[in-house]
Amino acid sequence: MSKRLKELHREVSKGLEGVVEFPRREAELLLMAYLGCDPLYFITHQEELIDENNPRLIEWIEKRKRNVPLEYLTNRVSFYSREFYIDEGALIPRPETEHLIDELLSRITPEAAMTVVEVGVGSGIISILLALHLPNARFIAVDISSAALAVARRNIEAFGLSGRIELREGDLLDPVTETIDLLVSNPPYIADDAALESNLSYEPQNALFGGEIGDEIIRRLLDQVYARRIALFGCEMGYDQRLKVQEYLKSFAVKSLEFYKDLASFDRGFILELNKENNE
Ligand SMILES: C[S@@+](CC[C@H](N)C(=O)[O-])C[C@H]1O[C@@H](n2cnc3c(N)ncnc32)[C@H](O)[C@@H]1O
Repeated sequence: MSKRLKELHREVSKGLEGVVEFPRREAELLLMAYLGCDPLYFITHQEELIDENNPRLIEWIEKRKRNVPLEYLTNRVSFYSREFYIDEGALIPRPETEHLIDELLSRITPEAAMTVVEVGVGSGIISILLALHLPNARFIAVDISSAALAVARRNIEAFGLSGRIELREGDLLDPVTETIDLLVSNPPYIADDAALESNLSYEPQNALFGGEIGDEIIRRLLDQVYARRIALFGCEMGYDQRLKVQEYLKSFAVKSLEFYKDLASFDRGFILELNKENNE
């Protein structure tokens, strides 16, 4: 049976009431993604007849009613004005991670020939964006999850960067023996017992939870940065982890430590510089 787009919009919105914060808007996004259209088309084609029995449409609506993120239904996600493939094997990139990339790029000359390592590559967005801006850098990107690495591989290939970004499976820096000039990470940093919104239950849990307190992986990374004398480390963190990071670094001889905020003015990450040698 066919329904007019405006009626379908109303029905899908109703089905999403109590599930998402803005049902009408979410229903619009779902239908636009399903139709592959832009907002202008959506507004100007309200009378168009849509087959409401299409199995894909039914599946998407049913899954969205269970709060499965739209990105996992469409397998598309936008980040830093580019489109990436995404599935449930990797965390959905968040807009705040764009700040980490900007903070690092503002400190590096674009021509720099350097070895960049990312820990927790997920969908690959950070390494890919950095690689596009740093044409002479080589990248090694690590993840503990083979499902995440499969998503990263797909995106890296789509951007034609397979020759510059090498993927490795393992725990933090264990699979990397090379000298590292820049380490970047958006590690899991939420406390294991934190109560989260239901949509987050569809994302890989090892991408979200960083331990009992939450900052355990960040601290392990800081230890490795210090032990290996990595000159520059850019890291995303939770809005309430600034003091913990500052406290932990008190016993380290650091060259500089700067925190940055996200658009909502929450502390969101830090850039740590170490002297390459003699920083005891
Ligand atoms: C918050 S997600 C970040 C993904 C992606 N870089 C982004 O910014 O969207 C953290 C990633 O770290 C990976 N991870 C968790 N523990 C790890 C570990 N001990 N060693 C390496 N990777 C780890 C997870 O599998 C996940 O892909």
